[in-house]
This record gives sequence, structure tokens and C-alpha cells, in this order.
Amino acid sequence: MLVKGKPFRTIWLSDNKENTVSIIDQTRLPYEFVIKDINNYKDMAKAIKDMEVRGAGLIGAAGAFAMYLAVINDKSHINFLEEIAQEIKETRPTAVNLEWAVNRMLKCINTVSTYTEKCAKALSEAQLIADEDAEFGRKIGEAGLTLIEELSKKKKGDTVHILTHCNAGWLALVDYGTALAPIYAAHKNGLKVHVWVDETRPRNQGAFLTAWELAMADIPHTVITDNAGGILMQKGFVDMVIVGSDRTTYTGDVCNKIGTYLKALAAKDNNVPFYVAVYSSSIDWYTADGLKDIPIEERSDDEIRFIKGLDSNNSITEVCILPTSSPASNFAFDVTPARLVTALITERGICKPHDILNLFPEKKNI
Ligand code: MRU
Repeated sequence: MLVKGKPFRTIWLSDNKENTVSIIDQTRLPYEFVIKDINNYKDMAKAIKDMEVRGAGLIGAAGAFAMYLAVINDKSHINFLEEIAQEIKETRPTAVNLEWAVNRMLKCINTVSTYTEKCAKALSEAQLIADEDAEFGRKIGEAGLTLIEELSKKKKGDTVHILTHCNAGWLALVDYGTALAPIYAAHKNGLKVHVWVDETRPRNQGAFLTAWELAMADIPHTVITDNAGGILMQKGFVDMVIVGSDRTTYTGDVCNKIGTYLKALAAKDNNVPFYVAVYSSSIDWYTADGLKDIPIEERSDDEIRFIKGLDSNNSITEVCILPTSSPASNFAFDVTPARLVTALITERGICKPHDILNLFPEKKNI
């Protein structure tokens, strides 16, 4: 996508150094646009853990490039690839893309025998994973556009108001995004859209990242508190909800950023369609019960205790917002049961949550 007129992806191999991978450091947005070069797998693992790169698709691609860096940087790593893969996978447990991409790299690197071949394989596979991720986002955009077109027609061309949670835009993938991809496609096609952006405490991915993305693309949007969605739906100010997903079971349960479930409940109560934009590498083909079996990441309570912003000198600063003695709890994701999801928007089209396997029949017998 474009940043001030220049096309960017969220992760790429540095132009002139084959052992360097570049990322956009998302912890600095929306205040600064900083590109960071990473040249060893430990630093990439840290960038994933610290959420300099985040979002299910992007951490999958980052995990793949971490495996590439492990291979290219030190020949002796070849003997410890399983352990390195495990170390990378443990950085963020919920999004299934990370585990999927790292396992795919491991398998692929092991198909060849010489060190030179392993380096070449690791590079081409990491790049393929990144390219596929971007392409899935583009296709979700095309599929989801039809839903926005229908609503726009129903409203005789009036603005379609879409609520989204967290950041499931191009920053969460390698490009295009999931939940925001149909919105970008609608805007490009001249449809009138307006996005209600949940701020998404505690890390404020909505306020910091989604709002920044939409502003860059000139798409009308309004940031709201996480608790405002309910009244907006009751008043008829929301035509549809679209969110992304970090892990969707093959039965259609959706695990996404904490707070998604409450939006799904409010949407159900107000007959607002609740869509989840999801693609094959974020579907967990082995898990049936999302509530019971998806590992929910718990992060540091400092993310709740401190909040970041600009001070009066326009410098980035952090302040403590809790009584120092109060404990805090920080579950990063929740699970929305399939029964609350109107439909999934996938790279192969739109389906009811319990019908995923009909869109991906090759996964039926794995
Ligand atoms: O903790 P984050 O910022 O990595 O969480 C991201 C989300 O929850 C997104 O909604 C999700 O990754 C879907 S977009 C691929």
C-alpha cells in the first residue's frame, strides 16, 4: 500500500544486503514511520514478541524470514533448526500463521541436502509465503467488496458504515489486509464508506494503526472507545462489522483481538451482520473447539498500566494510568463462537462459518 505516495509492504528482503530483512517498526506508529533492518533470527523473534511486527499474517511471514536468517547467518544452525523453530513459534502462541509458516519453512529446508541449497530454498520459500500472504489479502478484498456493494445498493448509494476492531489492515499482513481489504476495494471502486474504528485497548491497534492506515488512504473514519460499538449499533449507525482473525477453527469459531466477542454479541442483538475476513493460513485445520483448544496469549500487565502518546513537546512518552498497587490482567485474544458469525470472507469467496471445509475440500482428510 502507499505511504505518502510510495508503495510499501510490511516486510521485505533488503535491496542490497541478502542477509538483511526490513520491517516497518509498528511500535513507532502513528507518530513516526521507521524502517528497521534485522539480520539475525533472534532479533526477528524479538521483533515479533515486542510487536514491532504484529498481525497474524505478518507474524507468519516474519517467522518465515526468521528461519531464513537462521540458516543464512550461521551454517551450524542447520543442526539446531528444530530448536530454533520452536523458539520462534513460542514468541506469540495464538495466531496459527506463525506456527504454520515456521513448520512449512522447516519442512522445505529439509528437502535439500547441501548448505547452499538450504540457503536458496529458505529464501525462496520465505518470499513465497510473503507473496501468498499479500495475494490472499487482495483476494479477500475482492470477495468482501460484493458485500459492501450490496449494502450500498440497498442504501441507494448512501455511505456504508462499517465497524472494525483492532488492526486487520495491510499492517497486519504483508499487504492489503483482511478486514480492511474490502474497504480499500470499495473506496477504490467509488463506493461511499465510513469506518468506526475501535481504539482496541490496551495496545490501541485501532487508534494507532487502523486510523493511521485509513488516514493515509483518505478513507473517512472515526475512532471510538472500545465500549461505544453497542450504542452505535442500537442507534442504527453501523451497517456491518468486519474483523480479522488470528486463528479460526475448521468449525468456524473465531479467535481475534480481545473485545471481538463483545462486538459479535452486540451485533447479534441488533441484527447487524458480523463478518470475519480470514484466509487459509489462519485457519486451524486440526482444532474443532475454539473455546477449549486455542491457546490465548497473556501479555504483560504493563500494557494496561502504561499508555503511550505525545506530550506537549510532541515527544513520544508513556504515562502510568493505574494506582501503582492495583494488579491488572491482560488476555490478548478472545473466541467468538461460530453461531455469532454471519459469514467468513476468504480468499476463495464467502461462506457460512460451519461450511469452511466445503470451500477448502482438500483439507477434509488431513
Ligand atoms: O496482537 P495483534 O496486534 O497481533 O493482533 C492482531 C489482530 O488481532 C488482528 O485482528 C488479526 O491478526 C487479524 S488480521 C490478520
